[in-house]
Amino acid sequence: MRKINVFDTTLRDGEQSAGVNLNFEEKLEIAKQLERLGVDVIEAGFPASSQGDFRSVQAIAQTVKGSSVTGLARSVTKDIDAAWEALKDSAEPRIHVFLATSPIHMTYKLRMTPDEVVRTAVESVKYAKAKFPQVQWSAEDASRSELPFLAKIIEEVINAGATVINLPDTVGYTTPHEIGNMFRYLTENVPNIDRAILSTHNHDDLGMAVSNSLAAIQNGAGQVECTVNGIGERAGNASLEEIAVALNIRKDHYQAETGLTLKEIKRTSSLVSKLTGMVVPSNKAVVGANAFAHESGIHQDGVLKNKETYEIITPELVGVSSNRMVLGKHSGRHAFKEKVVELGFNGTDEQLQTIFTAFKDLADKKKDVTEDDLFALMTEATVGG
Ligand code: KIV
Ligand code: ZN
Repeated sequence: MRKINVFDTTLRDGEQSAGVNLNFEEKLEIAKQLERLGVDVIEAGFPASSQGDFRSVQAIAQTVKGSSVTGLARSVTKDIDAAWEALKDSAEPRIHVFLATSPIHMTYKLRMTPDEVVRTAVESVKYAKAKFPQVQWSAEDASRSELPFLAKIIEEVINAGATVINLPDTVGYTTPHEIGNMFRYLTENVPNIDRAILSTHNHDDLGMAVSNSLAAIQNGAGQVECTVNGIGERAGNASLEEIAVALNIRKDHYQAETGLTLKEIKRTSSLVSKLTGMVVPSNKAVVGANAFAHESGIHQDGVLKNKETYEIITPELVGVSSNRMVLGKHSGRHAFKEKVVELGFNGTDEQLQTIFTAFKDLADKKKDVTEDDLFALMTEATVGG
């Protein structure tokens, strides 16, 4: 089984979600929970971006020792210096420097020629390496870059001292097939590639961030970058919990695993949702309120006979106490009986039939039938209303 390092960027790219602003205490609390979850690297922020971010990154670097802590820097000495000041007390100082490599970013955003981009990247990595034992270099917009150019710049930044090479799909444009080809091409065409770990970082603009991350892992990525609940710029980043659980449940397919303590997933998701104010949709995979809820009679009956009929993930795996039978108009007699017996019903089969009929009438008019509703129906049938 290959070990995949999890690089969590909830506190950096995740915090770039519109409307999210975490204060010092909130960032520290999330960082401690990420450490409990067992992520390999926490990207704690962007130290040069503000005094507040600098203080948070510094405090996290001084406090968290079970995960590596890193911070983002543009390819300029002032950002690298700020990152060093913030991170020098961490267990293993690590920096994340980036520069765009796609034609559109080089021409219009950076206004640099490809040769200038290579020179700037190499100089920034050398400058960072003089301070940091671990230097991660990212080719921003890698998925829209030309592959021979990417291969050339990666070879040079590895020679300059980069130990991790990250290839972001910055605008969420790529597909699983294309990203697989990119990772395979670079593995085969960068002569010194075995001196670095390849990393994948995907955005969700077309809803493919998790699939793209998994395809990159299948084609050589040894590190995956993601955020809790998939929060991040625009449509967000690849969701940590979905990648981790997919690798776990489909070990047979991916032959790769993370070192995460999966039962901390639900707690981590709830904390991030509470502190960022970003509500988790109820149908969200793994951590949504309905992820382990069954409403239809056919499903409820199957699950009550054998959970594996409709549950591929056990709720306990991710720290959820149990599955949930929701009583609604699609529910059947099996789950209904279990529920009323749990609520104390011990009447006759005839009374049960009466309550079930009344329940079905009610469920046609009401989305959720509550325990109070059931008590009322039970009382009516057994005491005579
Ligand atoms: O999406 C992106 O390209 C990034 C880089 C800064 C790594 O977040
Ligand atoms: Zn990003």
